[in-house]
Amino acid sequence: QTRVLTGITTTGTPHLGNYVGAIRPAVAASRRADVDAFYFMADYHALIKSDNPERIERSRLEIAATWLAAGLDPGRVTFYRQSDIPEIPELTWFLTCVTAKGLLNRAHAYKASVDKNTEAGEDSDAGVTAGLYMYPVLMAADILAFNAHKVPVGRDQIQHIEMARDIAQRFNHIYGREFFVLPEVQIEEQVATLPGLDGRKMSKSYDNTIPLFAGGAKHLRETIMRIVTDSRAPGEPKNPDDSALFTIYQAFASADETAAFRQSLLDGIGWGEAKQRLFERIETDVAPMREQYEALIAKPAAIEDILHEGAQKARATATPLLAELREAIGLRSMA
Ligand code: TYM
Repeated sequence: QTRVLTGITTTGTPHLGNYVGAIRPAVAASRRADVDAFYFMADYHALIKSDNPERIERSRLEIAATWLAAGLDPGRVTFYRQSDIPEIPELTWFLTCVTAKGLLNRAHAYKASVDKNTEAGEDSDAGVTAGLYMYPVLMAADILAFNAHKVPVGRDQIQHIEMARDIAQRFNHIYGREFFVLPEVQIEEQVATLPGLDGRKMSKSYDNTIPLFAGGAKHLRETIMRIVTDSRAPGEPKNPDDSALFTIYQAFASADETAAFRQSLLDGIGWGEAKQRLFERIETDVAPMREQYEALIAKPAAIEDILHEGAQKARATATPLLAELREAIGLRSMA
């Protein structure tokens, strides 16, 4: 069996990018008999971006309900919350001690902050916490604590998986045994970077997201109507290959539907009508899930139970591995 693992940071409301880039492919993979799936809420990672406890809790509930509404079967999948697994922060420390500081200097998220500070003429590390700096090591621990083979993610996470491989390799080398599987990234090319309202990557940090469920069908439609388009009038041909709207449509539609939509754009349908068609296409998939989501979100206690059970299952894998690692690195008990 292939072990597949992925997580979502609990800092916001799930958006279409999370859904097509991570949740939808991960749920599909979990239905395969040869896959052993581990999916989790990355709430330790959330602390790096947010110091708002209510927001983190609310986001965790929304993300858990989203996974379940999208068809995740907790009987098949090990589904848990990162902060319920004490082996993860423990492993983070073991990995920290073999990770080259220079590797972390090259992490995109850290570098972006440094570049921004430098441009603004400030101290390069102004406002950067050690948590942001350590982000890739915590993520490596998420993956390596369960020796996952494959990590399905959107394109923005590739560097983190490569770093997890580097760190695993280094640990194996230093301690002379294959403790860790070297994880591989799994990318769905078509949806690896879903654009947002302004055409840039859909991201909480750019404030350009289209929420999956929040606000209902009305809000979904209103948000889709805000997708930025060029100024071509109805009747003028549109270029599908230069259109966030088309790219988003493609992420939800079959090949035939996509071809028909492409033709309509070339034939010059108005942007307003194109947006309405995009809304209808997405709503067809989302409406039945939204109903489930509303029911789930009203029962946080039931979700808690599911996550606790998931944490027990997850720890059945992580606890023996950590015991083995402790022995290997010289932290064995003297009794
Ligand atoms: P996060 O929470 O930013 O995003 C969750 C998943 O959604 C994908 N994604 C996208 N895919 C396509 N187009 C987009 N516009 C888009 N926006 C987001 C992300 O690539 C990701 O797969 N560090 C991770 C969470 C994490 C994790 C892990 C993932 C923590 N530990 C271990 C895998 C394995 C993050 O912040 O993702």
